[in-house]
Amino acid sequence: MAKQFILDLIKAMTLEEKAAQLTQLSPNYFDEKTSVTLTGPYRNFDLTKEMIENAGSVLGCVDAQTYCKIQDAYLKKNRHHIPLLFMADIIHGMKTIFPIPLAIGGSFDLKLCEESAQIAAKEASVTGLHVTFSPMADLVRDPRWGRVMESPGEDPYLNSEMTRAMVRGYQGKDLKESGRLAACVKHFAAYGAGDGGREYNTVDLSRGMLKEYYLPAYRAAVEEDVALIMTSFNTIERVPSTGNPWLLREVLRKEWGFRGVTISDFNSLDEIINHSIAADSKEAAKKGIVSGLDIEMMSACYVTCLPELVRTGEIKEEWVDEAVLRILELKDRLGLFENPYKDADQSGAERIWLCEKHRKAARKLAGESAVLLKNNSVLPLSKANNLKIGIAGPFAESKQVLGGWAGQGENKDAISLADGIRAVLGNENVVTAMTQELQERLTGFLDVKDETKEAVKALKDCDVILAAVGEHPGDSGEAASKTYLRLSKNQEKLIHELKELSKPVIVIVFAGRPMEIEPILEDCDALIYGWFLGTEMGNALTDLLFGKVNPSGRLSISIPHTVGQIPVYYNYFQTGRPYQGMSPQERFASRYIDCENSPLYPFGYGLSYSNFIYSNLNVCTDSKKRGATASVLVKNDSDTDGTVVVQLYIRDITASVVRPVKELKGFQRIWLTAGEQKEISFEITEEMLKYYNNKEEFIFEAGEFEIMIGDNSEQLLKEKITIL
Ligand code: BGC
Repeated sequence: MAKQFILDLIKAMTLEEKAAQLTQLSPNYFDEKTSVTLTGPYRNFDLTKEMIENAGSVLGCVDAQTYCKIQDAYLKKNRHHIPLLFMADIIHGMKTIFPIPLAIGGSFDLKLCEESAQIAAKEASVTGLHVTFSPMADLVRDPRWGRVMESPGEDPYLNSEMTRAMVRGYQGKDLKESGRLAACVKHFAAYGAGDGGREYNTVDLSRGMLKEYYLPAYRAAVEEDVALIMTSFNTIERVPSTGNPWLLREVLRKEWGFRGVTISDFNSLDEIINHSIAADSKEAAKKGIVSGLDIEMMSACYVTCLPELVRTGEIKEEWVDEAVLRILELKDRLGLFENPYKDADQSGAERIWLCEKHRKAARKLAGESAVLLKNNSVLPLSKANNLKIGIAGPFAESKQVLGGWAGQGENKDAISLADGIRAVLGNENVVTAMTQELQERLTGFLDVKDETKEAVKALKDCDVILAAVGEHPGDSGEAASKTYLRLSKNQEKLIHELKELSKPVIVIVFAGRPMEIEPILEDCDALIYGWFLGTEMGNALTDLLFGKVNPSGRLSISIPHTVGQIPVYYNYFQTGRPYQGMSPQERFASRYIDCENSPLYPFGYGLSYSNFIYSNLNVCTDSKKRGATASVLVKNDSDTDGTVVVQLYIRDITASVVRPVKELKGFQRIWLTAGEQKEISFEITEEMLKYYNNKEEFIFEAGEFEIMIGDNSEQLLKEKITIL
């Protein structure tokens, strides 16, 4: 039941005030002197003073003083004294920046992921911010898409669990508590499935695919009581999400019982005119409200057209009222009617931003997120014998390692790779070369200067060589789709030439997406996928390089051999002519004749300095209920303590519709000391065996299932069971 004071407020509001309440504008509308970096195209909407004075929320990250100033001035003018809501993108940290979400996904560490969101919320809420546009739960399979960096990866289960952890981290139990933010899961729905990996492109998926792969993570957020959900730019079944009643009313509200606020993406309601499902702003406003869209971000269809649409009887006023109610309820849930400034406190920001505790958590998560992909026994390094390290490449000295959407994080606060290593080896034992930094591709930049000769000369006396290469952080994120995923030519050349020194070459790749690393693989003795690891990058990688931390990160997304294989993902459907087990000469099979079907490195893959052995897979079915218990013995067969990520996959062998060849259904991060072995078990429930049929029913079908447990999506012990 809605609170009486909110119902009274709605009764007292004019239609114009209600329409404005549904509108979100950037801070410069409220305070001309405030400028923020906008995350989309800016247009002048010619709004009246009254429209602005009644707008319900603000988009953009500023500081405590400015938020308070805007709130103060607003409350003085707003005749109902309804506070403004402040929202912004705090994606992987506010000031202390954690790894990009794609990297965090690979940590498989839900607790630490939750803690990172909690820290981000703390650091952001002291500025006076109320809502973060995070987590992004979009399932991603196409590394050409720049926004893969913002997602926890290609698997629906991992996505769902990570999304839950983030919502819990931001919101806690009570949004009124200090240090909490309301979370906004995005981009509903299936924004990651755009054709060809091209930004904002068409999505066309069957409902089966949507329900199987793409929707579970948003639903998980709803189950965690996420406060808001943001619509996506793309179409679903030829209808843009922002004006899609099936998605917003049927699926989200009726089926999932979502009671929070829906918000468009930046200008995406207006863009349904470009999509050509609305002729003008009036029709766009009508479609938005009919679909169940509450807040319109950075366009003005609602504020300019809704009052007239109600007056002419084209839409029901109760739809507008419902949307206003949900927004006012969110303001109430955050406690803004009692305290419109919430946690705003500039001195608090100075106290907690980048504090030791936050940096420590960032370092730990960065250490767990980097993925060791190759190691010819050259790692870990030993400091003994006055080890001298040479580091070459654009990320050797660079602090451009925060990754996109880095809140108010600043490069200057980041630890570079060279500085991280210097802290351990001393300045004299670290030599750097060819350190020119990358610039954004959009500036026309193509490559760093070829200084390979100089680099080889400078590093010739070093014992070990690191090549710190990758892509500019601005080349991933929104509006950064790419077709060429190899390293730039001079970076590849650098690695190749460094190899000639006959010293161990360790490559670290910094990127917001899987890149095509096959061409450099032969030239390196070890390779760490370093993503963008955030503020503590240099320290975290140093911990890994010297074995202070044993690598445990896994790939949250497959790394393709070549761009031509994309999309390549582990949970594909079996075809009628599967290629597995056939001779390489077999022509009439589902295959490429010039490349393997499987990726270079599969989902879930990652090495450790320990050697883990899996044995004794044992699956016991339970005759009393539909389910089973699966257990496996995992042994750390090495002299090094370490963490292993034990993964459970299930395949439904025969069903009414084609099922994926395997699906991740559980995982556990287990610490095993040298020589230790442990039995790890998983409960397999009926829920885990169900799937959506073509009538959109979530059903169990009796029959055979294959239970698989192992180290990654390809190296698995397998056992078949029958469940009736
Ligand atoms: C992005 C969203 C973001 C919004 C607000 C849009 O361009 O797609 O992810 O939350 O801007 O900054």
